[in-house]
Amino acid sequence: MLEPRIKGAAFGAFLLLGSLLGAESAIGVNWGTVSFHKLKPSAVVDLLKDNKIEKVKLFEAEPDALRALAGSGIQVMVGIPNDLLAILSSSPAASDLWVRQNVSAYVGKDGVDIRYVAVGNEPFLTSYAGQYVNYVVPTLLNLQQSLAKANLAGSVKLVVPCNADAYEANLPSQGAFRPELTDIMTQLVSFLNTNGSPFVVNIYPFLSLYGSSDFPQDYAFFEGTTHPVTDGNNVYTNAFDGNFDTLVAALTKIGYSQMPIVIGEVGWPTDGALNANLSAARAFNQGLINHVLSNRGTPLRPGVPPMDVYLFSLLDEGAKSVLPGNFERHWGIFSFDGQAKYALNLGRGSKLLKNARNVQYLPSRWCIADPTKDLSSVANHFRLACSEADCTTLNYGGSCNGIGAKGNISYAFNSYYQLRMQNSQSCDFDGIGLVTFLNPSVGECRFLVGVTDTSFAKFRACSNRLIYLVLVLWGLRFLGVY
Ligand SMILES: *[C@@H]1O[C@H](CO)[C@@H](O)[C@H](O)[C@H]1NC(C)=O
Ligand SMILES: *[C@@H]1O[C@H](CO)[C@@H](O)[C@H](O)[C@H]1NC(C)=O
Ligand SMILES: *[C@@H]1O[C@H](CO)[C@@H](O)[C@H](O)[C@H]1NC(C)=O
Repeated sequence: MLEPRIKGAAFGAFLLLGSLLGAESAIGVNWGTVSFHKLKPSAVVDLLKDNKIEKVKLFEAEPDALRALAGSGIQVMVGIPNDLLAILSSSPAASDLWVRQNVSAYVGKDGVDIRYVAVGNEPFLTSYAGQYVNYVVPTLLNLQQSLAKANLAGSVKLVVPCNADAYEANLPSQGAFRPELTDIMTQLVSFLNTNGSPFVVNIYPFLSLYGSSDFPQDYAFFEGTTHPVTDGNNVYTNAFDGNFDTLVAALTKIGYSQMPIVIGEVGWPTDGALNANLSAARAFNQGLINHVLSNRGTPLRPGVPPMDVYLFSLLDEGAKSVLPGNFERHWGIFSFDGQAKYALNLGRGSKLLKNARNVQYLPSRWCIADPTKDLSSVANHFRLACSEADCTTLNYGGSCNGIGAKGNISYAFNSYYQLRMQNSQSCDFDGIGLVTFLNPSVGECRFLVGVTDTSFAKFRACSNRLIYLVLVLWGLRFLGVY
């Protein structure tokens, strides 16, 4: 007798939750800026607008990005890096100042529509060995006070993006937070619940596949699987739902079965690993978007998809650490210069992504290894170039892995040359480098041309000779010489 009633009550609650939150799942994006070649922030905001992306997540309160977002109508989640948590947790004054400088300064009429502040980024990550764990709740309490003082507590919600390693289980229904986190999670979720904030989690089926050779490949995607996971009466056909429901079970276990969930990061990279390619990324992201927008929900939350989903990522970030793997620089649905990598329907009326407009490229020229020179002694140059510039696509599984030894060297030279804003000395390499005006790209392997948001500040610092050369080149271009 009892059981159906509970189920009925729970179902009613789901319908309520669904009508409150589920109906309007939004697809947002993460806008990270760890890049050698940055688009102008205003070009990025135009890119968001052109693609009708209404929510964006920033990892820091970057003044340039926030200024560009002012008046755009785009809803913003502003991040606080983990290394600020120590001071913010211990000093109400620091917390007040953070809110003043990084929220109050931007909101208001024609300002930035800041909806969330993300307190830390995956602060409970196992590999941080607990160093931030005890700062999280005190920081939340301080910031909440600061927001209240600034009259922003009603419009700006605090959240804590967690990695999915905060919980674990063999089956979704058995989900539980890591034992050492149970106390902190209970305090955190109670805080979120009191303040009307969602739980934010980052879910990465790609990393599960990358990290384990026996992870069934089709379980990472949304098109059905030969390896479904059976959990009581529930059958899971994709890792995303399985992971999501593991979190739902963990939240239920600490008494918050109704806690709304936002996906802070989810995505698939396109390069730098065998499973990271254009078709896989397209299949995953499109499958995810269709799944979320179908409002189907998951077995434990039928009809209640995540409140919002922030794709990781908007743009490739070529200066990110490759510690996790070479794929780390290739998560963008757009390349670093705002060009769509594949067809993706964000559910906003267009079947395709729209490219960035008015991208300020450096001149169309590349640095390659002089084909007439002996290349037997360039190993050091290659290493130096790739230690600074991005050469990740050259490695096994990368889009430039098959271009041969000479191609490798040219690729490295060019990456370095573009990183140095095409400074002529940066294509010397003891006389082996050669500037060319013919695009050396081969097949899917793209030899990039840099972009700049620095309004030619660095460019101006280059030698007069270079500027003269550019003028000559532009002149030749108009004459139709190339
Ligand atoms: C505001 O945010 C930026 C970017 O994260 C940070 O460098 C700065 O210290 C913050 N301001 C305060 C007062 O903490
Ligand atoms: C792309 O990745 C998918 C899925 O991980 C894999 O099955 C496929 O073979 C890869 N495609 C190429 C061309 O490498
Ligand atoms: C090109 O460079 C990559 C990365 O260093 C290496 O894995 C690959 O074997 C190289 N290819 C050739 C033909 O030397």
